[in-house]
Amino acid sequence: MGDPGSIPGSFAYLTVKDRSPQILTKAIDTLHRHKSEFFEKHGEKGLEAEKKAISLLSKLRNELQTDKPIVPLVEKFVDTDIWNQYLEYQQSLLNESDGKPRWFLSPWLFVECYMYRRIHEAIIQSPPIDDFDIFKELKDQNFFESQESVIALCTHLQELRKTIEDLDENQLKNEFFKILQISLWGNKCDLSLSGGEHISQKTNIMNSLEDLKPFILVNDMDRLWSLLSNYKKTREKESVTRVDIVLDNSGFELITDLVLAEFLLSSKLATKIHFYGKTIPWFVSDTTLHDFNWIIKQLKHSNNKWVSQCGVDWEDHIKMGRWVYLDHIFWTLPHDFSTMSQVAPDLHAALQKAHLIFFKGDLNYRKLTGDRRWEFTIPFHEALSGFHPAPLCSIRTLKAEVQVGLQPGQGEQLTASEPNWLTTGKYGVFQFDGPL
Ligand code: F6P
Ligand code: MG
Repeated sequence: MGDPGSIPGSFAYLTVKDRSPQILTKAIDTLHRHKSEFFEKHGEKGLEAEKKAISLLSKLRNELQTDKPIVPLVEKFVDTDIWNQYLEYQQSLLNESDGKPRWFLSPWLFVECYMYRRIHEAIIQSPPIDDFDIFKELKDQNFFESQESVIALCTHLQELRKTIEDLDENQLKNEFFKILQISLWGNKCDLSLSGGEHISQKTNIMNSLEDLKPFILVNDMDRLWSLLSNYKKTREKESVTRVDIVLDNSGFELITDLVLAEFLLSSKLATKIHFYGKTIPWFVSDTTLHDFNWIIKQLKHSNNKWVSQCGVDWEDHIKMGRWVYLDHIFWTLPHDFSTMSQVAPDLHAALQKAHLIFFKGDLNYRKLTGDRRWEFTIPFHEALSGFHPAPLCSIRTLKAEVQVGLQPGQGEQLTASEPNWLTTGKYGVFQFDGPL
């Protein structure tokens, strides 16, 4: 599975060497800055907990930087045993004398997931601050800094809803494509690539869509439209078309995904949406239940009438069961999705009931494709290695050295002109797998 971090110059190496310690340092700093808050809430016990969490995170950073063996998790949590079994499995793949997987020698995807899981362990080992989300501030800031774009998006959406019934097929399709592209470029706003540095959508993204089109390397939007418009035409009254969105980042990206979800309902391309988020804070900016509810509440209380209308409508969708937020521990395990049917058969069975599944973001793409260095031209279907619960589409900006389903020569051409094209987030894909 994927590159180990040990290949100098690879993106994996740079992540493990530079970006990961930087994220840990920021996490430690966040704890420091919340010291007085912990004291106000919990008194001396809060201070002790802060110290403990900081020392556990410093230890973690040291283990990483000095390439120590990767150790089992110790604190009991729902997924501790699965993680430790996975560590044993990684160990069994090694033949070296001390037989222990290490930070720089193990597959990158595994090491990164393990780091975020250890951050969580440091927090849950430090009651009473064991429910503290160390990345929350950053996620919230990203939302606040993207206000201009949030207002533009919500206004566009609400205006569109007023006339949506009058649009002809072609107009509706064009609107669908616009909303999809917004959700794609929303994925640039991820905070783990930037090492936790602010990256928000400061300008109105809708003005950039045309200019960004050449950067879409695989564009299966037509296939999405055929699938969903066909469901709409053939749907019996009262029956359900369910679209599942496996969410990625909170902040601006989440807004773009909620806008997509609203569009699907308003246009009747779908009648029900299931969202999947993360059970624990993950890859800095990923969405948890708390983030999901927080953002909708923020919208509801906005001074802008369109933004606040979105908040009100979306709360109503949740209340009425048209929108359902779900999480599952599988999303924060290191496993590829090809193992889902064995590791999380309940989740796999649930996804099989969807009519279409959107997988947002880069990490989901890495897990869909097993984070392997496939040939660029390998079909997406093949790279999924048997994972086909329902028709699915990855909506992802490229931030890791894996990309499949390109035209012959396309990847080589990009490499020649822009050596870092795979990892900057400048390019994006809508990559579909399902019936033709
Ligand atoms: O640390 C880098 C990384 O793992 C990249 O794969 C990607 O840039 C990021 O984390 C996660 O991106 P996303 O939020 O799009 O899943
Ligand atoms: Mg993310």
